[in-house]
Amino acid sequence: MRPPTPFCALVTALFAASFTAATTTVGVTPHASYSSSIGVLGCKVNTNRIAYWPMAVDCTNICVSLSYSGRQVYLLRIDESGGAYDVSYDAWNYLTTGKSAMADPTAGGSFNMETENVDVSKCASLINTSGSKLPLSAANSMNFLSSCLSQQADGKKSWVAANYVLYNILDPICTYGYDEVCNLTNWPDQNQATCPHQLGDSVALKSQPVYNIEYPTGKKVLAGAPVAASTAKTSSANAAADHAFRNLFQCQSLLFWLLSLGTIGYAFLGSF
Ligand SMILES: *[C@@H]1O[C@H](CO)[C@@H](O)[C@H](O)[C@H]1NC(C)=O
Ligand SMILES: *[C@@H]1O[C@H](CO)[C@@H](O)[C@H](O)[C@H]1NC(C)=O
Repeated sequence: MRPPTPFCALVTALFAASFTAATTTVGVTPHASYSSSIGVLGCKVNTNRIAYWPMAVDCTNICVSLSYSGRQVYLLRIDESGGAYDVSYDAWNYLTTGKSAMADPTAGGSFNMETENVDVSKCASLINTSGSKLPLSAANSMNFLSSCLSQQADGKKSWVAANYVLYNILDPICTYGYDEVCNLTNWPDQNQATCPHQLGDSVALKSQPVYNIEYPTGKKVLAGAPVAASTAKTSSANAAADHAFRNLFQCQSLLFWLLSLGTIGYAFLGSF
């Protein structure tokens, strides 16, 4: 084996730094209203500790650590954003100021923070179900759940496949359905859960309220309730998200550059 040239060493170091480092820096913006693209039920998770990242929700990496200025939180990554790295307003406020948004709300945009995927056990306290299993909608989470069960059937790691619980609740903000556990037996032959009441019955559900922390007032408001004249305020949160979206695109040329270096690095390593 030839000794690596200085150039190769540099390329390899850059490759290693950009692709094996567990921690990455992202520009994080506040998110006011709970949502989950995969149908995680907001009434059974801590909606103040959610990550809205711009990539598809994973069957295993659904818990992330986020750090800023000596403070750190764990977040459930259960929704996909349009491009921003959003987190629950309360988590953003705590990381940037050290105070809950309910105690001392502030307004602002993107802050560069350190994030990494961590074992889901770190997020167990954010999930209020027996055994901290991920609470999914029996009627509306089947596409995601099937994809995770397929991974498991293929012998791949799939945390969600081994740790989910289905409820007969239709929407992530828990306003329709029954607060009851359903069973999925005989998957994939059967792709529908069995519930005590009819699956997907859209009766009003009042016992499982989900609250949002309004941006930037810090007021606790019922999710799904008619909004007062606060549209002007939410638009500044959206502006912060747009800003992060633009930053992401400015980073893209750098990313392609690093990717091409990575390819060269691989070519070099292969030639040894
Ligand atoms: C957890 O769920 C139980 C009902 O299953 C409820 O009584 C309790 O208040 C919930 N805890 C939190 C922190 O939401
Ligand atoms: C789901 O399965 C459990 C245990 O196998 C059983 O006790 C329960 O009655 C089942 N529920 C429904 C709705 O089928």
